[in-house]
Amino acid sequence: MAKARIGLIGLGVMGANLTLNIAEKGFVVAVHNRTTARIGEFIGAAGDLADRLVAAETPAALAAALTPPRAIIIMVQAGAAVDATIAGLTPHLHPGDILIDAGNADFNDTRRREAALREQGLRFIGMGVSGGEEGARHGPSIMVGGTAEAYAEISDIVQAIAARYQGAPCAAHLGSDGAGHFVKTVHNGIEYADMQMIAEIYGLLRDGEGRTPVDIAALFGGWNHGPLKSYLVEITAKVLAATDPGTGAAMVDVIIDRAGQKGTGRWTVIEALKLGQSASSIEAAVGARSWSAAKDLREIGAQRLQGRAEIEMGPTLLDVDLEKALLAARIIAYAQGFSLLAAASDEFGWALDLARTAEIWRAGCIIRSALLDDIATAFRADLPGSSLILAPYFSRLLADNIAPLRRVVARAAMGGYAVPAMAAALAYFDTMRQARGTAALIQAQRDFFGAHGFERVDIDGTDHHGPWGS
Ligand code: 6PG
Repeated sequence: MAKARIGLIGLGVMGANLTLNIAEKGFVVAVHNRTTARIGEFIGAAGDLADRLVAAETPAALAAALTPPRAIIIMVQAGAAVDATIAGLTPHLHPGDILIDAGNADFNDTRRREAALREQGLRFIGMGVSGGEEGARHGPSIMVGGTAEAYAEISDIVQAIAARYQGAPCAAHLGSDGAGHFVKTVHNGIEYADMQMIAEIYGLLRDGEGRTPVDIAALFGGWNHGPLKSYLVEITAKVLAATDPGTGAAMVDVIIDRAGQKGTGRWTVIEALKLGQSASSIEAAVGARSWSAAKDLREIGAQRLQGRAEIEMGPTLLDVDLEKALLAARIIAYAQGFSLLAAASDEFGWALDLARTAEIWRAGCIIRSALLDDIATAFRADLPGSSLILAPYFSRLLADNIAPLRRVVARAAMGGYAVPAMAAALAYFDTMRQARGTAALIQAQRDFFGAHGFERVDIDGTDHHGPWGS
């Protein structure tokens, strides 16, 4: 067989599906896996595509199966496994070869690896891939970071395997070093916020109104034909309609309410704070997953902490209010994510094209939604501070939907139901529409106890002090 065009290490579910996707598009792929038995098993199950797969039992064999400059995709668990894989490969590589980390990596690691490999004459691409198993197999959204020259070597493959939105591939080179992995991380942060907000609406309907999963499924199913149209709303309807084959109960009712998390949501929040930003709806979603894990404490809390029983939920929530509230909160979560991307782009010199980012999220990825096309259009215009909520289209949309969000958050608060992500979104919106906020008092307090100084509205200078001692 002719030499392979590209290599891939890590035949887990994502790596295997990505390999089949690449092979299906006509490229020969050399594959390696640490547990070598998996290689034969994978190729054996690949059907017609097996002709385009080359087994490589060792990193050396993988390098030998490729034509220089070699391009090798690494699809292993984030963290130490990526470093170990790189260390195992580099002795077999030559200057100009390209390593592509296609897992969910902390972009700080990507920057470190890119710099270290550049020292050795090697090129490193951090490539965010979204869309889960199905996306990897049939078309993910792909966010690339690294040099434009390195990307040019593999762009035909990347464009061929990506999802398509009205025929256009959902893949782009977004910036140098960690840009692709950073954008993927923020994608996941938005994913966390959106999932949490959907779960909050579900909780209000279940606990506040006693509605059944099937009933709530129908509601989400209907919303998926309107402005909330999105992958996450679509799968929520399917999930809520599903029945457990063993017990006959609604599937969602037999799942323990403890959510897992692998780290991307947390990374988003950490980077937001480091950059002096606040992605509060994402932080609320990460926090909610952490609280969900404290199931034992919540069991005790349910016995000891009073609240809900004393307060009425208030009038029944209108389904239309819930739909509009979720739309408003979703827009704000996107806005916080994009603000964070803009801040990181400035800090790391990536010159991220936010419109292009929104475009490649229109298909293939987990947060794909009807809003993203309008978000791309909004970022094509000049936006103050890259703030999505200030775009005329979105400020009008929020004007139409913010009152329902207010009513939903208020009624949830009165009923004693936690809606942390929607409440955080609303607080952000209300803060951003207030020209004179309350930080004057914070400044006065800081000056009182620490002589930190403040700016005045009427006199220039940054080190004014109050008359606290007199
Ligand atoms: C995607 C997903 C994918 C994965 C997350 C789940 O874009 O395809 O986001 O990356 O499902 O890692 O993350 P948690 O396990 O942290 O929820």
